[in-house]
This record gives sequence, structure tokens and C-alpha cells, in this order.
Amino acid sequence: MLVSLEYPIYTAESYIGLETALLSTGASGASICVCSDENVAALYLEEVLRNINTLSSKVSYHVQKAGEEHKNLNNIEHIYKHFVKVGLDRHSFVLALGGGVVGDMAGFAAATYMRGVRCCQIPTTLLSQVDSGVGGKTGVDFMGFKNLIGAFYQPAFVYINASTLKTLPDFQFSSGMAEVIKHGLICDKPYLDMIYNDRDKIKSLFPSAIRAVVEGSCRIKSSVVLRDEKESSLRMILNFGHTFGHAIESLSGFAMPHGHAVSVGMCAALRISQSTGAITNDEIAYVENLLSFFSLPTRSAYDPEEVLNQMSRDKKNRNGQINIVALTKLGEAEVRSNVPQQQIFNAIMSVTE
Ligand SMILES: NC(=O)c1ccc[n+]([C@@H]2O[C@H](COP(=O)([O-])OP(=O)(O)OC[C@H]3O[C@@H](n4cnc5c(N)ncnc54)[C@H](O)[C@@H]3O)[C@@H](O)[C@H]2O)c1
Ligand SMILES: [Zn+2]
Repeated sequence: MLVSLEYPIYTAESYIGLETALLSTGASGASICVCSDENVAALYLEEVLRNINTLSSKVSYHVQKAGEEHKNLNNIEHIYKHFVKVGLDRHSFVLALGGGVVGDMAGFAAATYMRGVRCCQIPTTLLSQVDSGVGGKTGVDFMGFKNLIGAFYQPAFVYINASTLKTLPDFQFSSGMAEVIKHGLICDKPYLDMIYNDRDKIKSLFPSAIRAVVEGSCRIKSSVVLRDEKESSLRMILNFGHTFGHAIESLSGFAMPHGHAVSVGMCAALRISQSTGAITNDEIAYVENLLSFFSLPTRSAYDPEEVLNQMSRDKKNRNGQINIVALTKLGEAEVRSNVPQQQIFNAIMSVTE
């Protein structure tokens, strides 16, 4: 168990420990609602319910359709209606069982229902286990904008059953690996090297290797979030590769998985770091090999002009400046707001096929 934030992050190979985790947050006898999506519910809801039914006679569940297109206020209303129907009160618990979509939505519903009921994150995708499940960002998409409506709301705890990754489609796993590699690049060279050395075991989901990946990423993400919960400055380093990545993701009409776009984005951001001598060609080759090993792309076919235009429209820009997260060395990052446009363009060019 990791306790680097104000709440515990449990990592396990099953849901057997969930009961104890809930007991230690005072959930005994409380109303508990498990929120999930159809795919995850078919695989894991029964097991989760079996492990919490002993705690309370007031356990219910709400299952929504899977996918980003359902991450909207309409479906939040459905969740609220379920909460009212089953009589959730201020002492109740919401369990978010699923990937980032369920985590963000159930977290937002919990943050806002009765001005906040406790929420436990139970992430089931690699991306949610190493990224969205930790950090307290919740919300939904609105009028075509991703995560436009939301709240910062820290969970009571995070419970990660790493064995759920066995049922995850390959492209979802590789998408999560982009965030894992990002964590090593921005904060922790030994962690990056561990991923490189254990890459075969990680790819074949060897339990101890996966646990090391998940625990390492949670530790890195929570230490960054702890120092900057509301994303004023330091937390921005978590956006490494994302300024470029978001542009590519939008140009693909969101058909390209997030982590795949971020992978190309990180390769572009590495070129910015290289142009100031912060990292070498060999180091870029090392990172690109690692990304490719996990079936992540390192090049994109989009027109560099279009990528640059799209980057200029990013909602995270301040005062018309494109903020770029660059590395000062492998394992250390900084935010730069003064990177010349030509340098950004050259970086995009160098990752264009
Ligand atoms: N809150 C944050 O800090 C944060 C950070 C990054 C991303 N996000 C959000 O996370 C979302 C993406 O998350 P995601 O990639 O987990 O997507 P997702 O929740 O849509 O899950 C991907 C797909 O995998 C299925 N699935 C989930 N777990 C499974 C399992 N163990 N086995 C088989 N199938 C499984 C889901 O039903 C879904 O179809 C986006 O909405 C994004 O905005 C939030
Ligand atoms: Zn991301």
C-alpha cells in the first residue's frame, strides 16, 4: 500500500482486500453504490459485489454504456437519479469501478451529490490505474469540449486490482504505457530504466513487474499532485508530450487512442529538449525504442502546419503562448513558455513521416 497523498492507494491482485479497505474508511453499514460501465460490469461487478455485500445490506449498482461518447451531463443525471432512488445520503459511498470515463463521471457525481459523498476509485484500465485514478480530477465533456465541466475531488482511497489488465485490449494497454513512460521521463530515471529492463515481463503482464509499474507511477503522479493539487505550475509537467499529443488526437477526430497521440507528442517534445542540448540523440533512440516495444507510434502523418495550428488552439495556452514541457535531462522536466514557433515547428517536422 502507498500512502503518499492524504488517502491510501492499495495495489492487489484481486478484490478480496476491498472489504478491509472500505471498513477502514468507515463504510460499514453505509449505503454503497458501485458505478460501472457495461464492459467492466460484465467482467468484475459480481466479484466486487461479493466482496462488499458483507459490509452493508444497502449495496446497489449503476451501470452505464461504455465509451467517451457517454461522458456527458445527461448520464450524470442518470447517476444522480439512481442515487436518489436508492436513498444515498451524505454518509454514503460511491465506488467508481472502471476506466477513466467511469472514474471521472462517478467521481464528479460523488463530488456534487449532496455537496459531496465519499468516492473510492477502483480503476480497471492501465491508464486509469497509473493516471486518472490518482489526482482527484473529475468531470465530463460538454459541447464538444473534453472535461469542460468538472471538479477537483480527492477519493477516500484508490484500490487497484492489477489482474484486471489481463482482459484489457492490447491497444488500451499500450495507451496506458505512454503515461507510464512519461512518468519516468519527467520525474524518475531509475523508474524509466526499470521499465526498459523489465519490458518483456511488463508486456507479458508478469504480476510483480506490473505491480512495480503501477506502484511506481502512482507514487510519481501523487508526489507531483501533492505538491500542486490545483495545477498551478508543477503539475503541468504531467502534460509532457500532451501539447503536441492533444493536437494530433484532435486531428484524428479522437480516433487515435490518447496514449498513442501522447507517444508521438513526447517524441516531438524530446526534440525541443535536444535542441538545447539537454538530451542526446542516443537518449532519444533509447526512449523511441521503448515506445515502439510497447507498440506505440513515434511518428505521425499529419501536416506539421495543421499540427501547429491545432496546438495554438489548445485551451491550456496562457496569454496566447504555447506552453511546452521539455526535459532538462532524462528524469527531469520544466515548463517553457518562450519556445520559438520555428523550434516547435521543427520538432513537429522531425516526428512527421
Ligand atoms: N481525471 C484525470 O486526471 C484523467 C487523466 C487522464 C485521462 N482521463 C480521462 O480518462 C478517460 C480515458 O480513460 P480510459 O482510457 O480508461 O478509457 P475508458 O474508461 O473508456 O475505458 C476504455 C475501454 O476499456 C473498457 N475496460 C475498462 N477496463 C477494462 C478491463 N479491465 N478489461 C476489459 N475492458 C475494460 C471500458 O469499458 C472501455 O470500453 C478519458 O475520458 C479522459 O478524459 C482523466
Ligand atoms: Zn494523458
